[in-house]
Amino acid sequence: MPLDPSFSSSAGLAPDTSSEPSPCGGCHRLDRRQFLASASVLSLGVLVSGCGDGIVSAPEQVLDAVPAPFRLDPATVPELAQIGGRSVVVSGTSAPVLVERVGSAQFRALSLVCPHRGTIVEVASSGLRCPNHEAVFANDGTWLGGQPTAGLTPLDVRRNSDGSLMVGGTLTPPVLGLDRSTVVFLTTLTGNAPAAQTVAINNDGGGILSGLAVTLIYGPGQRTGWLSLALSQASAPATLSLSAQRGTLPVGTYTATVSITGAGVSNGAQTLTVSLLVQDPTTPAALQLSTSSLAFTAPIGGIPAAQVVQCINSGGGSLAGLAATIAYSAGGTGWLTATLNQTTAPAALTVRPTVGTLAAGSYSATITISGTGVAARTITVSLTVTAAGLLVTLAAWPALANVGGVAGSVGNVNGGPVAVTRLSATSFAAFSMRCPHAGTTINVVNGTSFRCPNHGALFNSAGVWQSSPQRAENLVALTVTYTPGATTLSVT
Ligand code: FES
Repeated sequence: MPLDPSFSSSAGLAPDTSSEPSPCGGCHRLDRRQFLASASVLSLGVLVSGCGDGIVSAPEQVLDAVPAPFRLDPATVPELAQIGGRSVVVSGTSAPVLVERVGSAQFRALSLVCPHRGTIVEVASSGLRCPNHEAVFANDGTWLGGQPTAGLTPLDVRRNSDGSLMVGGTLTPPVLGLDRSTVVFLTTLTGNAPAAQTVAINNDGGGILSGLAVTLIYGPGQRTGWLSLALSQASAPATLSLSAQRGTLPVGTYTATVSITGAGVSNGAQTLTVSLLVQDPTTPAALQLSTSSLAFTAPIGGIPAAQVVQCINSGGGSLAGLAATIAYSAGGTGWLTATLNQTTAPAALTVRPTVGTLAAGSYSATITISGTGVAARTITVSLTVTAAGLLVTLAAWPALANVGGVAGSVGNVNGGPVAVTRLSATSFAAFSMRCPHAGTTINVVNGTSFRCPNHGALFNSAGVWQSSPQRAENLVALTVTYTPGATTLSVT
């Protein structure tokens, strides 16, 4: 069956001129040697496989459909300048990936490895088609017709702070991220309206974060109408602008909560606590903290993520001489640090426990914040140390820096070797490296998947069985204890 000529064209993308024209007309055939050569550096352009059996249809040549995440700067790719623009990207010797700009700052990525037999799917303006057995896919990867098979594999696309992208790895749900959780406005009875403030809303997970919405809630008995919100757009990255007006509010502290939601996020609605402090400049300073208690959980030897407490002046005048001291309750000492970024309000207090050799159990301490001429305030801190497991230091395993990355043989649990996979920016999974088929120790392939050397069973980075002559179960999952932002995790 002849190919639709549109499937051998460039689809608006620069063709790979290193390939030889095939006998079928407009198709360009890349043999495996040429393919690997073209992929030895990050290359951009259309990869068009030959007619018939394609370039990688033999089972032993099938490329992993989920390449390890790689960096891509869309500013360097002209095809990605416009919404709807697409480009095929190859990193190293990985499978080609179709990257599409679907919004002003949103991108989608699909593996071009055909789910049927692993041939590289061709890209055309009218859609995507596999030249091997003619499976046809929509631009979003959905299977449309021809050879029955699954849809093309969606891949993760994450945005770096410099605007570049990390493309690749298993697609994970979006995660709603705010660059802070509290906003404080300060004004006086005679002062001007406080300056507007902004909160950055980002997708800290994979996929596309859309459907952003904000809800303003004033607490029971609170004065209303003093806060206004403006969301820059409904998809991340977005900016939430907040403006506070004192109006006729008397001296006092007024609070409101902003709930931020997004479609399909794995971490649910996020909240922002907003305060307006109306001060009388003639009254004394007063110390106020954004919270009076903190709780941490970590495994033995773990280092949980730090938490920050805001220290503000809720009175008049200025507040200086801030200092923090720690008093430990019975059971353990020396496991907490509390550091002020400055000695005048407003200041940020960073609180960080270090579990070290503390035994499993509960610990507590009290941090006292004092200031010149003001009543001191306290923060109670609780730390729960969980049972010892296999402690994994993330920095020791570079593969875990990327979502979808797999680190093998990180240690033993129950006498068997363990592999750890990064599922998202804030979560990990761990697996026994014993093949569920016959107990052989499996290997990590390309830092992104698993293969059993005994009967060839393949498992993806999430431990899910993919293929082998004998049907195998998924890898046995172990329990991971991890606090987002921590430098270690525990496997039991
Ligand atoms: S390999 Fe793609 S349809 Fe068969």
